[in-house]
This record gives sequence, structure tokens and C-alpha cells, in this order.
Amino acid sequence: MEKKEKLYEGKAKVLYKTDNKDLLVQYFKDDTTAFDGAKKEVLEDKGVINCSISTAIFEYLEKNGIKTHFVERLSSREMLVKGCEIIPVEVVVRNIAAGSFSRRYGVKEGTPLKKPLVEYFYKSDELHDPMVCPNHVYLFEWATKEELEEMTNTALKVNELLKKFFDEIGIILVDFKLEFGRHNGEVILADEITPDSCRLWDKSSMEVLDKDRFRKDMGKVVESYKEIYKRIMERYEGM
Ligand code: C5P
Repeated sequence: MEKKEKLYEGKAKVLYKTDNKDLLVQYFKDDTTAFDGAKKEVLEDKGVINCSISTAIFEYLEKNGIKTHFVERLSSREMLVKGCEIIPVEVVVRNIAAGSFSRRYGVKEGTPLKKPLVEYFYKSDELHDPMVCPNHVYLFEWATKEELEEMTNTALKVNELLKKFFDEIGIILVDFKLEFGRHNGEVILADEITPDSCRLWDKSSMEVLDKDRFRKDMGKVVESYKEIYKRIMERYEGM
């Protein structure tokens, strides 16, 4: 497999074409952004750690029957993925109130939700990813009813799997964001699953281990990501 020209550059990742028209290389940058790119820093090694964490999570999800774009890890910052047409709807699953949910509905951060909540956001930096409901998704034809239902069901399955995955290493999965794409007529999980896209709190100390450390200038961002990866390796390496 040969890496070819750049197809797309996002805030934290770059996609490259390959000599196989069905496959892309997803490269993880050290660039870290928040508030739609208004806050930006380069955090040394973040790309390597995020590529490692995302690889471990995609492998775990695939083993548990979730279809993803992940094919294999290629290098410290690169994974081979199936090329897909990204559906511009970000699916957020929440177990505990935090972030925009707490602000929007006036619920104290840390309040457990009675059951997992699924929310949808239109993926658009220009519009600051507005929250949408299924009717917007159908009206704008971002996805069909069948596709959105499948995305929702998969997101809830991923939530159950990841709650267990993180619980085993002493981490609470507060919330996370997923992106999906179409590949050969199927809807598959795409993008990344990393501490950039999840809220993860230490179970005993309630210490924040995710991108909120960057958003809120708490320091030790990469150190926290490394701590998550260390625990994943101790528990899951070779499984
Ligand atoms: O900001 P908000 O509370 O809506 O974020 C919910 C979850 O989705 C968080 O884990 C956050 O990191 C993630 N997210 C993301 N990319 C976005 C928006 C939210 O990864 N564009």
C-alpha cells in the first residue's frame, strides 16, 4: 500500500489517498483546538497517544461486533481506514451531565442521567455545530430515517461497550461524540475515539482526564491522555 496525496485536512487529523481507491491513511496531528478552532495549541505527542488509544478502542469495538472504518495501525501516528462518505451529523451520547448539556439545561456538572441520552449536532464549524433534532436531519437529507436509527442504535451499543471498557480501568465514561460514514452501502463508525472526543473522569478521584483539561487550561493534557493509554495497555494488551 502506497500513501498518495492529501485528500482532506481537519483540525486534528489529515486524510491521505492510497493506491487502493477504497482505503485512506488517517494521520493524527499534535494540533489541539477548542471552541471551533478559536483556541489552538500544538501538544507534543498528542497525535501518537490518540492514534494509540483510537486503535485500541476500534479493535475492541470490532471484536464486539461494531463495524468501523479501522483497518490497521500503520505507524505511530497513522492508521489505515476504509474511505467513506462522512454523514454530517455528530452523535453525542451522555451518561452524566457536563459541558454544553449542563450549560443548555442548567443541570449541575456531574449529575448522573437516569438513562443514556443521545443528541445530534450538525457538523459545521461555520455554524458552530448547532444542535439538531431528527426532523432537521431528514429535512436537510443529511441521513435517511433508517440511517439515523442505525447510528443511534450503534451509538447506544458503543456506549455500553465503552462504559465497561473504561470502568475496568477505573475511568468513568461521562459522554462522547461519534461520527459515521457510508461505505459500500453500509453505515460504519468513522473518525476517532480519543480523549479529544470523550469526557473521561478517574473513578476514585473524579479527576478530569480528557480534553476539558485543554479547554479549561487545567494543564497536564498529554500526561492525562498518557495515563489513560497506560491503563488500557496494562488491562488489554495482547487480548
Ligand atoms: O461540548 P459538549 O458537552 O456538547 O460535548 C459532548 C461530548 O462530545 C464531549 O465528550 C466532547 O469532547 C465531544 N465533542 C467532540 N467534538 C465536537 C463537540 C463535542 O468530540 N465538535
